[in-house]
Amino acid sequence: MPAIKSKPALLGGPKTVTRAFPVWPRVDDEVVREVTRVMTSEPLCPVGNTGIQGEFERSFASFHGRRFGLATSSGTAALMLSVHGAGVEPGDEVIVSPFTWGASISCVLQCAAIPVFADIDRVTLALDPESVRARITPRTRAIVLVHLFGYPAEMEGLLAVADEHGLAVIEDCAQAAGGLYKGRRLGSLGQFGAFSLQASKNLTGGEGGILICDDRRAYERAMSLGTHPLRLEAELELDEFRQRIDSLAYSFRMHTACAAMANTQLKYLDDWTQARNRNARRFYDAVRELPFLQVQEPPGEASGSRHAYYRVPFLYVPDVLPIDRDLFSAALRAEGVPAQAYVRVPFYLRPRFRQRDWLGRGFPWSLGEPPPQYKVGDCPVAEALCAQELELEGSLHEDVPELIEQIADAIAKVGESAQDIAAASQRGGLVLT
Ligand SMILES: Cc1ncc(COP(=O)(O)O)c(C=O)c1O
Repeated sequence: MPAIKSKPALLGGPKTVTRAFPVWPRVDDEVVREVTRVMTSEPLCPVGNTGIQGEFERSFASFHGRRFGLATSSGTAALMLSVHGAGVEPGDEVIVSPFTWGASISCVLQCAAIPVFADIDRVTLALDPESVRARITPRTRAIVLVHLFGYPAEMEGLLAVADEHGLAVIEDCAQAAGGLYKGRRLGSLGQFGAFSLQASKNLTGGEGGILICDDRRAYERAMSLGTHPLRLEAELELDEFRQRIDSLAYSFRMHTACAAMANTQLKYLDDWTQARNRNARRFYDAVRELPFLQVQEPPGEASGSRHAYYRVPFLYVPDVLPIDRDLFSAALRAEGVPAQAYVRVPFYLRPRFRQRDWLGRGFPWSLGEPPPQYKVGDCPVAEALCAQELELEGSLHEDVPELIEQIADAIAKVGESAQDIAAASQRGGLVLT
């Protein structure tokens, strides 16, 4: 890497990154044609599994080798229906990660169940099987795990713990479309895989979500909570759910345009994911030797596992430079590197958990016996990572070696200028974005 002597952008110097990230989401002629076709030829409010929505459900499920797919209005809705479909009932405990997007946890609260937090693994950033094991009680019913940023969670260990204790496993694949674990697609290993199709995600319809599973009973139970009665009438086979055919369900339908857009993208997903992996490797190779960064080594290709790289994370090693993580990332953003911390405070230490504030009156914690206490030190790895983690925002689904080189140069430049940045910060007056 060339020595970079210019003044940091945070102190008024030139921006290092001049190249743009690839445009995402991709709304090209193919998408526009297909969205126009379905919006002018199909009902805009598809209440059945026919037309483009049914086609997308079937192609997405079979892409993952699963029997059933249920399209939803969001990833959050897909997760909630999955937790319900897995048989979770009010007052049950469900083990979750404290280091994630809140929907991986709120899906449990939405089912009036109680989230119990287990710690994460420092490399995968996903649930650590041994910590999960330590949190199991007679009231535990399920595990919601998340493949964060697309890194496959340690599924063998997690599934083994779940099997030992008869727990359902729900994979939050919102960030993991295109990823593999030992040759199998993420979302095809747990009882349910739940995906988001929101605009920033690796496969997108602008908004939307989808759940996939193999078990007819779990599928019908999930569907019965969030689907139009006409579709329930047509599809439900099991008597125990047919009595739920009415308009009491949530309205979690996917929009036709969303199904059309996402459906056109599925055939490109593997190519995009491979480009994401090449870009991440370029980035890690370029910054690996910097003493103030730690890169997240991806799973070895020989294992058959593949990162989905929704985002490219790295850790800021404290006390190597005279600036803290937040000043470091502000300096990167000034250089044009979209570096952000993803989770600043583990969820169990946030006011809503400590004060048991979901719908009011301490519900659903009031159903638990005894309700879990959430406190500092519960998940030490997650707590430490909250102070160190950074990720590159922006989609890297096309090969962009020059952009990656500029990002790495910007990081080196901020490292070299850290003393000047620290001095300017002490003097005050820095404008941080
Ligand atoms: C890990 C994770 N789970 C769930 C969701 C929720 O998806 P949606 O925004 O489609 O509701 C997201 C969205 O960012 C996510 O990142």
